[in-house]
Amino acid sequence: MSISRRKIALIGGGNIGGTMAHLCAMKKLGDVVLFDVIDGLPQGKALDLLQSAPVEGFDASIVGTTSYEDIVGADVCIITAGIARKPGMSRDDLLGTNAKIMSQVSENIKKYAPDAFVIVITNPLDAMVTLCQRVTGFPKNQVVGQSGILDSSRYRTFIAQELNRSVDSVSAMVLGGHGDDMVPVRSTCQVGGVPVERLIASERLDEIEQRVRMAGGEIVALLKTGSAFYAPASAAVRMAEAYLLDKKEVLPCAALLEGEYGVQGYYFCVPVLIGAGGVEQVIEIDLSAGEKAQFDESLSHVEEIVGAMDRVLGQA
Ligand code: LAC
Repeated sequence: MSISRRKIALIGGGNIGGTMAHLCAMKKLGDVVLFDVIDGLPQGKALDLLQSAPVEGFDASIVGTTSYEDIVGADVCIITAGIARKPGMSRDDLLGTNAKIMSQVSENIKKYAPDAFVIVITNPLDAMVTLCQRVTGFPKNQVVGQSGILDSSRYRTFIAQELNRSVDSVSAMVLGGHGDDMVPVRSTCQVGGVPVERLIASERLDEIEQRVRMAGGEIVALLKTGSAFYAPASAAVRMAEAYLLDKKEVLPCAALLEGEYGVQGYYFCVPVLIGAGGVEQVIEIDLSAGEKAQFDESLSHVEEIVGAMDRVLGQA
C-alpha cells in the first residue's frame, strides 16, 4: 500500500507564499506547489527551498510553477495572489486590482483543484474571500479567510510584552473585519487564566488594542515596499495544519455567516472549528455590549467594501 503525501498549493509566490512554503516543509505538512504568474520567481524560490531540505531534514517535494495544471490534486490552496499595501494605503485601496486577480485565481482553483480546502489571505480580506467563494461556488465550509489568527497573535504579542509573560500564557481573540475597526475582544483575553482587565489598566488596554488595530499598517510604514509576511504566513499555515491533521481546533477565521451572530450572508471573523471537514462549525461566544457595538460597526464596513467590490465587478 502506498501512502502519498498531502499536497499544498500556494497561489502567489511573494513574501507570504515563500514563507509559507518554508513553514509547510519544515512542519512536514506535505508536498508544496508554489504558483506565480512571474516566470522564474516561484521556480527560483522552490529550488532554493529544496536545497534547505538536507539541512532541515525534510523530504517534501517543492515545485515552482506558472502553470495552474500543477495544482491538480491539491488538498489545500492558500491564496496570497494580488498586490500588497504601500505606505499611506488602506487595505481597501487594493480592491480594484485584487478583485480581478482573485476572480482569475478562483476560476482556476475551481477548474484544477475542486476538492481543495481554500484559505484566502489577499486583501481586502473580507471582500476577497467572499469573491473566492462566489466564483468557485464551493460550499462555505471549504472556503475561509485568514485574518483573526494574525490579529489575535498581534494582540497576544503586545499583552505578553506589556506583562513580561510568555506568549503561551496569553489567550485572546480579535474578531470582526480585517480592517482598522477590527474588534480585539477584551473579555476573551486572559493571562494564565486571569482576566487581562485585572492586570492592565483600562486606559493602557485601550492603547494596546489600538496598536493591534493598526499593526498591519505599522509594519507597512516601516517596510515601505510591502506588508507583513512572517506572521500572516504562520497564521495561514496554522489553519492548513488544523485541516490536514483534522485537529478540530477553534481558531478565529473569516467564515461565511448565515444567521450566526445575527450576520446574514457575509464573511466575518469569528471563532470556528477547523478539522478535516474544513470549517466544521461556527462557535458563538458572548460579547459585552461594547464589544457587540464594535462588532456591528466593523460589519457595516465589511458590507460597504463588499458593495464596492460588486460595483467594481459590475455585479451591483
Ligand atoms: C496585515 C496584512 C497582511 O494585516 O493584512 O499585515
